[in-house]
Amino acid sequence: MGKIAVYPGSFDPVTNGHCDVVHRGLTLFDKVIVAVAQNGTKDPLFTIDERLEMLSETFKKTPGVEVDSFDGLLVDYVTKRRADAILKGLRAVSDFEYEFQMALMNRKLNKNIQTVFLMTGLRWIFISSSIIKEAARFGGETRGMVPDFVAEKLRQKFSKA
Ligand code: PNS
Repeated sequence: MGKIAVYPGSFDPVTNGHCDVVHRGLTLFDKVIVAVAQNGTKDPLFTIDERLEMLSETFKKTPGVEVDSFDGLLVDYVTKRRADAILKGLRAVSDFEYEFQMALMNRKLNKNIQTVFLMTGLRWIFISSSIIKEAARFGGETRGMVPDFVAEKLRQKFSKA
């Protein structure tokens, strides 16, 4: 059986940085399960269904990617899916402390599950879902930083507000 990684996150919304990590992950793993945490971000802009739909659209032509959601502990979901590792992206030093803490807690909860960190491509180093939402909220153009249809969804969301 091939190697499977779970790539967890809020994906509110998916960015080109996330896509970059998935593609890098596919060079190491046979399958990457992109898993939206149902109890992730406290005050999300997009519903779980909207986020799942955007992720499915993003990866519909990428073999080896599955989109799913999970509730509860990440390590329990990883075990349930019989995955080999947790995949996470790292951008800058600022990500490190939080990611390190999370990886060590996950290891404490289940010592058999490893976390693999991959560096995002340099062009995406400044991109996060939060900064994308901030720009879109005030009418900023997000095309080129998120998939085109996500940029459109952001525009629609904030034009309604
Ligand atoms: O994209 P995010 O918001 O940084 O993702 C954080 C996420 C969803 C990976 C993290 O909050 C998570 O794993 N949540 C599930 C609960 C859990 O297992 N937490 C870590 C150990 S307490």
